Amino acid sequence: MKAVILFAHPGTKSFNHAILQQVTESLHKHGITPILRNLYEQKFSPIFSPADMQALESEQVPKAIEEEQTILSESDLLIMIYPVWWWSQPAILKGYIDRIFSDGFAFKYEKNGPVGLLTGKQALVFTTTRESQQEMQASGLDEVVKKQVVDGILRFSGFEPVIYHNFAEVPYVQEAIRETYLQQVGQAIASLKLPVLM
Ligand SMILES: Cc1cc2nc3c(=O)[nH]c(=O)nc-3n(C[C@H](O)[C@H](O)[C@H](O)COP(=O)(O)O)c2cc1C
Repeated sequence: MKAVILFAHPGTKSFNHAILQQVTESLHKHGITPILRNLYEQKFSPIFSPADMQALESEQVPKAIEEEQTILSESDLLIMIYPVWWWSQPAILKGYIDRIFSDGFAFKYEKNGPVGLLTGKQALVFTTTRESQQEMQASGLDEVVKKQVVDGILRFSGFEPVIYHNFAEVPYVQEAIRETYLQQVGQAIASLKLPVLM
């Protein structure tokens, strides 16, 4: 089984990095070495440029985009890890979606509407927020952050199942709570359909 991680955090040490480490270790226990796309480290350009637009219109895929698309096509499992910024992804990850999840690659439109093309793949999303679950529930933004990525991006593109976990109040909770968050990350990986090692 092939897994790819899309990681978008500009720091060098953060709770998102702890999630990344936990995910990587948990996958290793299942004999899976994930491909890591650390978007800040690889200096991914998130700008859907005029050149991208022309390439899309002339159905010519630029090499850099094709490389990312090949990684996604060949993966059975996609894991996204990012802090919630303005109730969405950091721009570098949003730009990755804009440029890589393109029309004709991730989805197409037919007479009856959109059809996801990245089928036969599971997805798992881990996000972190400063706000508490109660605050987000009160404003309805908990559903916004979830629905935008789960339905708007991943299910739209054919991924199924899509599992989503947000870890709230990350900068404020005690270390013991962060530890339970990391245990939940391990449990989420264990709940996936993964190969059993003999
Ligand atoms: C540009 C920016 C926008 C942010 N927007 C939100 C937001 O919309 N909601 C929220 O709860 N936290 C927001 N935050 C706080 C981060 O989500 C929070 O610091 C992060 O999840 C903590 O994880 P870390 O310790 O791994 O960095 C924002 C932070 C930044 C820098």
